[in-house]
Amino acid sequence: MPESAIRNSLTVTDNRTGKSYDLPIENGTIRSMDLRQIKVSDDDFGLLGYDPGYLNTASCKSTITYIDGDKGILRYRGYPIEQLAEKSTFLETAYLLIKGELPDRERLAVWTFNIRHHTMVHANLAKFMDGFRYDAHPMGILVGTVGALSTFYPDAKNVGNEEFRKLQVRRLIGKIPTIAAMTFRHHLGLPYVLPDNELSYTGNFLSMMFKMTERNYRPNPVLERALDVLFILHADHEQNCSTNAVRSVSSSMVDPYSAIAAGCAALYGPLHGGANEAVIRMLDGIGSVDRIPAFIKSVKEGEGRLMGFGHRVYKNYDPRAKIIKEIAFQVFEETGRNPMLDVALELERIALEDDYFVSRKLYPNVDFYSGLIYQAMGFPKDMFPVLFAIGRVPGWLAQWIEHVKDPDQKIARPRQVFLGEGPRDFIEIEKRPKRVVDEQKFGICRM
Ligand code: CMC
Repeated sequence: MPESAIRNSLTVTDNRTGKSYDLPIENGTIRSMDLRQIKVSDDDFGLLGYDPGYLNTASCKSTITYIDGDKGILRYRGYPIEQLAEKSTFLETAYLLIKGELPDRERLAVWTFNIRHHTMVHANLAKFMDGFRYDAHPMGILVGTVGALSTFYPDAKNVGNEEFRKLQVRRLIGKIPTIAAMTFRHHLGLPYVLPDNELSYTGNFLSMMFKMTERNYRPNPVLERALDVLFILHADHEQNCSTNAVRSVSSSMVDPYSAIAAGCAALYGPLHGGANEAVIRMLDGIGSVDRIPAFIKSVKEGEGRLMGFGHRVYKNYDPRAKIIKEIAFQVFEETGRNPMLDVALELERIALEDDYFVSRKLYPNVDFYSGLIYQAMGFPKDMFPVLFAIGRVPGWLAQWIEHVKDPDQKIARPRQVFLGEGPRDFIEIEKRPKRVVDEQKFGICRM
């Protein structure tokens, strides 16, 4: 058929009524709102799509990140992740994500200056953080503290103003490593370290984390570069759970600190950014290579998941995991081999040959090897998701800007399929049927 004869539409027949509808197709999608005209009667609300977890729903048009999950391709603004990991720096990649193009030398210098100018935090923020218990999870502190930033910068409410948006971008990228390092030092009861702007973005973060009594902290250049590349690899990943949270929350036109705090909260979960921490706990639990078959058996029997494996989009090797695996060996040259590496390598080998994982297209994802590197660098396990968050902030911000500027967007407000009861008449408390309460089970206290 000649291309001109192909109609960009979908014809559907509602078998309840026998009526046919022509729904336009644009960019490989139909508009869900076009389903609404499909009704059985005039007072019918109209057909809805039912898609828990958004398995097949596009929530936005975007020009930021491209993923081909079947081929294992990831590109930021068109640039392959492999080239960015080899040739770019995290701050340059952040510029690319937010502005859409790679900067020239001068623009990069100005961008770097602007971010560094915002690395310090208000002294009251340190007091705020002191309120957390000594054993608070750093990710919980991060969620609360990033949210609290909105009270320090009330001008951030002007989300429709480009200049104000630029300022919040600089503040957030500048301050996130400072806050991240403070969550760690708070836990150990160590004094906070001021930013050292003589160092690179990532070098300064390492200094704020690990500087003790030395006058000048100088990071190991191999570890500094490795961490910078890890930040690049985490910088964006199109409409993942946390980015969706950022977009959804910012659709109410709230300030970006509140929206990014929501992103941090979503990232905290073990199925998302918390997976890197969960991988190390899983490897520690397995303990040694000889116990892997029993562990794999338990996963296949549904007793838990192989953390760091599987992805909603990648049905092939996650390209970030490939790069991270190479970095792991470079880092271990400096730090010594992480004793859990052998368990991870063997786990990967066995899983990639096992029909359960092969048939479900479950491959190692970004989190499988990253925790081993972080651990070898001296980061405690519960800091791993915080490191993921530092990397992801530029992506969240790029998506936030795209979202608030998109004329197609509206406040995020999904529909539901209501299966509950009603209408019912209210029953006075004395007349409600008595339920027998198991006092022991619910720990009822009668003091
Ligand atoms: N271990 C064992 N089985 C798995 C795993 C796993 N890691 N992942 C998926 N499956 C099985 C799952 O049980 C299901 O099997 P069945 O069809 O028999 O019911 C099938 O594979 C499809 O899984 P799903 O849960 O429908 O897939 P999803 O797209 O909803 O979930 C995922 C994606 C990443 C949440 C999931 O693969 C997972 O829980 N992985 C482990 C956690 C993890 O590593 N998360 C990090 C993701 S990458 C970084 C990031 O985005 O944060």
